[in-house]
Amino acid sequence: MKHQRGMIDTTCLSPYSAPRCFGSRCAFSCSEFMLIDTHCHLDLKDFDGDRPEVLSRAVESGVGRFITIGIDLPSSRRAVALAGQYEEVYATVGIHPHGACRLTPRQTQELLALGREQRVVAYGEIGLDFYRDRQPRPVQRSCFGAQLALARQLGLPVVVHDRDAHEETIEVLRAEKTWDAGGVMHCFSGDWRFARRCLDLNLYIAIAGPVTFGNAPNLHDVARRCPLDRIVLETDAPFLAPVPERGRRNEPAFLRHTAAKVAALRKAPLAEISRQTSENARRLFRLPEPGASIQAERSR
Ligand code: NI
Repeated sequence: MKHQRGMIDTTCLSPYSAPRCFGSRCAFSCSEFMLIDTHCHLDLKDFDGDRPEVLSRAVESGVGRFITIGIDLPSSRRAVALAGQYEEVYATVGIHPHGACRLTPRQTQELLALGREQRVVAYGEIGLDFYRDRQPRPVQRSCFGAQLALARQLGLPVVVHDRDAHEETIEVLRAEKTWDAGGVMHCFSGDWRFARRCLDLNLYIAIAGPVTFGNAPNLHDVARRCPLDRIVLETDAPFLAPVPERGRRNEPAFLRHTAAKVAALRKAPLAEISRQTSENARRLFRLPEPGASIQAERSR
């Protein structure tokens, strides 16, 4: 799945068509045009039957890089292993607010060791989920705070999960001063007022599949008003498939529907949305330029 310097078919400039790479026939770098799925769960068993096919379908649809997200220790280990296996895949490590998180010294040691693996580009997903409340709220808060400290120790940006806990999430982030390495509000679900507060904390806004839903006026507003250099795109696959795939298993190839919706909302060419959101993802997660090694990028 190597991409050469190449170009985009001009049909790609329509906000409704999928970006495609035509190798040597084109004038731009494919890498500039590639979408990056900044949040997917490739390690989950939903993909056990067809993971290589899922990745190649994504590449064919113009999604060239993937960040697979750890949600607990076993999942973080699997994410790191996948990033070692596929050159387009990067990993994050962390314990999701649904998970039991006691952060024993042993867990902490392992998270720190995993976080230092070469292809780990962020810490997360971590945060607060007051919608499902699978763990007691005080436990969620202390787990979130403790992991923000680990992220800071590792010098990694954070992937933040916030469901029905906007105020508290901001409070914990402020208390831990995590905006040094920056981060992203994953699957953003607030309104423009809340988005502005996240931007003030140096967080990027991740737009996911729900932006394609008809009943999402707040999200449409955020996608229109957020500065384009602060938006990244994600699928959260296998969850939350965008329209017209809603209800199916989500996969990174479907990111093009989300990108097309953002382009339509902003009345901007899809090429511009792709190029800018990918550049944002590279900046936030310090991804190497194509052809460069991740070590070279880290030492800059
Ligand atoms: Ni997720």
